[in-house]
Amino acid sequence: MTVFESRETLADTLHLHRAKHMSIGFVPTMGALHAGHISLVSRCREDNEVVVVSIFVNPAQFNDKNDLARYPRMLEADSEKLQAAGCDFLFAPAVEEMYPEEDRRQFDFGMLDKVMEGVYRPGHFNGVAQIVSKLFDTVQPQRAYFGEKDFQQLAVIRRMVKMLHYPVEIVGCPIVREADGLAMSSRNARLTVEQLKQAPVIADTLFQSRRKIAHTPLDELKRWVKDRINNTGGLEVEYFEIVDRETLQPAAGYRENELQGCIAVHAGDVRLIDNVTY
Ligand code: PAF
Repeated sequence: MTVFESRETLADTLHLHRAKHMSIGFVPTMGALHAGHISLVSRCREDNEVVVVSIFVNPAQFNDKNDLARYPRMLEADSEKLQAAGCDFLFAPAVEEMYPEEDRRQFDFGMLDKVMEGVYRPGHFNGVAQIVSKLFDTVQPQRAYFGEKDFQQLAVIRRMVKMLHYPVEIVGCPIVREADGLAMSSRNARLTVEQLKQAPVIADTLFQSRRKIAHTPLDELKRWVKDRINNTGGLEVEYFEIVDRETLQPAAGYRENELQGCIAVHAGDVRLIDNVTY
């Protein structure tokens, strides 16, 4: 595995591979890699001749400075995991490399970012689109891989790709969970022993709600999900929405396989998200 810090050097190297008609797959990450990330890299390895992974903690997508400062950074351990997973090229640029000057672009995602994460993390998706478009410009992948845990992010990125006419296939990959159901996240590393016992209630409640949805009015179900998690102790629901999987707008009634339940929960100062398909 070769590590690159410069956009230009990586782009030149990939150009040589593209000239040989080799397919290039790309997994953008912010590091602190867990089995969820590695599942993206493995899928990318299966589908492509060249596997590129980026690790970049993107300041533009953090609306909370403390969250940015606390975000775990562990490049050496991550490099070892990527090497073992069959990554060919790791791109780990400095902030100045990606933002030599302020990126003032404003993306219009229609209604996709007017709900859920878009409400609670203003500017977040604009920052995601800024960095993902810069990374796509550098890597020019044929396919790019994103986890479905960030369900809304996936929808926003698909929209960005359409708007900017990127010739890249966006591949969504399933959530990877711990044995107790907790969705894997780099932020889980910051949970205390006590919080690690409480947090699986989030997934358990979502799974139980899946069994109830066909015979429970959506408003009642939403209340039930929030109450069950809030009553656990140590957890506080920020939002729980049942939305249309395509438009992300709140659903009026149950339609099998067309709805997604999306949740954000605070465990102390750690913010966790998860989702399920109904
Ligand atoms: O999902 C993430 O880790 C980040 O939002 C991404 C897509 C790497 C952009 O910084």
